[in-house]
Amino acid sequence: MKIPFGLMRPLLFRLDPETAHRLTLRALAVDLPLQTPDSDPSLRITVAGLRFENPVGIAAGFDKNAEAMNPLLRLGFGFVEAGTVTPRPQPGNAKPHLFRLVEDEALVNRLGFNNDGLDLAMDRFRERAWHRGPKGVVGINLGANKTSRDRIADYAIGVERAAPFVDYITINISSPNTPGLRALQSKAALDELLARVIIARGHRKTPIFLKLAPDLGDAEISDIAVSVVTAGIDGLIVSNTTTARPAGLRSAQAREEGGLSGRPLMQPSTDMLKALRQATVGAVPLIGVGGIASADDAYAKIRAGASLVQLYTALVYQGPGLVEEIKAGLARHLAADGFERLEQAVGAG
Ligand SMILES: Cc1cc2nc3c(=O)[nH]c(=O)nc-3n(C[C@H](O)[C@H](O)[C@H](O)COP(=O)(O)O)c2cc1C
Repeated sequence: MKIPFGLMRPLLFRLDPETAHRLTLRALAVDLPLQTPDSDPSLRITVAGLRFENPVGIAAGFDKNAEAMNPLLRLGFGFVEAGTVTPRPQPGNAKPHLFRLVEDEALVNRLGFNNDGLDLAMDRFRERAWHRGPKGVVGINLGANKTSRDRIADYAIGVERAAPFVDYITINISSPNTPGLRALQSKAALDELLARVIIARGHRKTPIFLKLAPDLGDAEISDIAVSVVTAGIDGLIVSNTTTARPAGLRSAQAREEGGLSGRPLMQPSTDMLKALRQATVGAVPLIGVGGIASADDAYAKIRAGASLVQLYTALVYQGPGLVEEIKAGLARHLAADGFERLEQAVGAG
């Protein structure tokens, strides 16, 4: 029996956010053999050589250990990004490290890459590859261990091991919760990192995406654009959570340290998307993330230059029905604007 999210939400919101998330994942992992909802043909798109049935993905952090990829695809997502996974398991930062900003429909997290490590995640990807699951693209988001002496080597190890078993790989250097990690976005470090991971992926050429912070200045944006185009990176994910606290936040939890996600991130992350589209002159596909809570938001990212979108926080507030709602709304937007295919709307705004 399916319980409507409207009835579940008060119960889930009485639990601390992490317990609520664990329960949700456990319920999903049961993986009932539901029929995957069909996507409107206008929503199909090919990005970095991968064919997506629809452009709506679940962002990294929801399924950190690649436990619920098939159930998430069955909810209607076109793609799932598991992770962040680090080479070795690690516990993450001390609890509490996840906060609901209910009045702002936002979250603040300082989880710090809590995950079971690459070995377990790869077992799960291999298992999915052997047993035919629902259609959909599955990627892994990679990070570095907090105590690692050579963080670039951590990414190279992840890429080398994951490349044969995943559809794409995201290099995440934009989490605010591992001290010093975001320094890898600066020019010299980034050039070295990108060169190493391109070598590590080997002859298969598994697409590599780079996930960026929304808190970059103009000079950093143009440096990153040059590095990414030169290295031949296949896509940019814009963006991770923000360390900024936009004016107008109402919740007391906004003062907690960590990365802010959800509604207040929509505008700054979309501005960053536009800036990166300009800086890369459309040469690199973009994946728009941050604050998407409706079909209108998703369409705004697409018109700003995103070929694909991802979301996380709105799912906590609106439940899984949001995925189909966004897909239906996107198809309507395309038809209303006279576009037969999603691709025609990318960057049209
Ligand atoms: C609880 C939580 C955990 C997250 N963990 C990760 C992570 O491990 N790796 C990552 O790249 N992004 C992580 N993110 C960031 C999301 O993938 C996404 O970029 C961000 O939340 C903005 O999207 P949203 O506003 O739709 O949530 C996390 C976000 C949240 C809320």
